[in-house]
Formats: sequence, C-alpha cells, structure tokens
Amino acid sequence: MSSPRVVVLASGGGSNLQALIDAVEEERINGMIAAVVSDRPDSGAMSRANAARIPAIGLPPEPGEARADYDRRLAAVLSAQHPDLVVLAGWMRILTEDVVAQFRVINLHPALPGELPGTGAIERAWEEFLAGTRSRSGVMVHEVPDGAVDAGPVLAHEEVAFAADDDLEAFAGRVHAVEHRLLTGVVADICDALQLTDSQEVIDA
Ligand code: GAR
Repeated sequence: MSSPRVVVLASGGGSNLQALIDAVEEERINGMIAAVVSDRPDSGAMSRANAARIPAIGLPPEPGEARADYDRRLAAVLSAQHPDLVVLAGWMRILTEDVVAQFRVINLHPALPGELPGTGAIERAWEEFLAGTRSRSGVMVHEVPDGAVDAGPVLAHEEVAFAADDDLEAFAGRVHAVEHRLLTGVVADICDALQLTDSQEVIDA
C-alpha cells in the first residue's frame, strides 16, 4: 500500500492535530494526513492544517440542519478523500451511522473508559477532584462503531493523576501531553498494521 490515508476531524484548537502533523513529518507515523475537516472554519485546527499545507475543508452546519443531513454531507466529503482511517481529534459532534458505518473511525477523549463522556471532561474531572470525589482521570483512544458518545472498544488508555499543588491549567497540560503521545502512538500502530495487511495481500495474491 502507498501511505495509509488519514483524515482528521477537528473542531477546536487542534493541538492533537498538530501532534499528528509533527509525527507524520518526523516519520513516526507511516501514513499521510490526506485532509482535515472542521465544522468550525475559523478553528485553530484549520489554521494548523493550512500552515502544514494539508487540504483544510470547512464544513459548518447550516442553520437548523438535522444531524443526519449534516452527516450525509460529511460522509460525501470523507468519501472523496478515500480515507483508510478517520481520526476524531477534538471533534465535538456526535456522528450518526451514515458516517461510522462507512469508515474506520477512532476517537480521542480526555477521560478514562466509561467516565465523563461528552464535552468539558477535563474541567468536570477537576471539579470532582476539588470536591474530593475523584483522585485521578486520564485519556483514552477508542474505536467508534456506533453513535455512542465517547464509548467503544478501547485501543489505548492512560491514567493522569492529580498532584497536591495542581491547578486546572497544570492538570490540563498533563492531560494534553498524554493525549498527544497516546493518539500519535495509536495512529502509528494502525498505519503500520494497514501496511502489513496490504503487503500480506500482495504475497497471498
Ligand atoms: C482534547 O482534549 C480532546 O480529547 C477533546 O477535545 C480536545 C481537543 O483539543 N475531545 C473531546 O472532549 C471529545 N469528547 P485540541 O483541539 O487541542 O486537539
């Protein structure tokens, strides 16, 4: 196989996208980022894609647009990129079956499996720590087999502990550092596996 094609979906600042861009440039990921799609055309993720000369596709929802209609448009955009892997790196929309049934999709979430689904997971973990009901949080990368929120077979996870002298910024910084390492590692492994599968198919043919 030529380089596996990775399409990144991102809504936010794009620090995880940047970690992927850097890992591809440094050949820690044997794949290419074919495109970046964002529902927020003015997002940091779009700027980072543009700076790296990666096709950056802004796909804002139309006013009142139903999720299914948006996802049909998204699926068409993705299909045109022929992705081997779709990575949700701070993608803040729930995907419907239209998308997840057609592509291999993985998601990054700043919490441990089964904990704190949805937005603001870092801030909610912090509030629970302050309230004395939480002693650690973490990061996970998981498959997205259906429309569930931040759930699906886990590919990697890692705990992030709170420290006695923590503040939210320091804790969030440690979470993001773990995210960047975990996500690039999983994407690297998947790209390697895709290339191995492909060369095995050539040998078998
Ligand atoms: C990351 O913390 C990611 O785990 C989170 O959004 C942030 C995006 O940061 N995703 C979710 O909460 C998904 N439910 P980034 O734009 O700097 O990569």
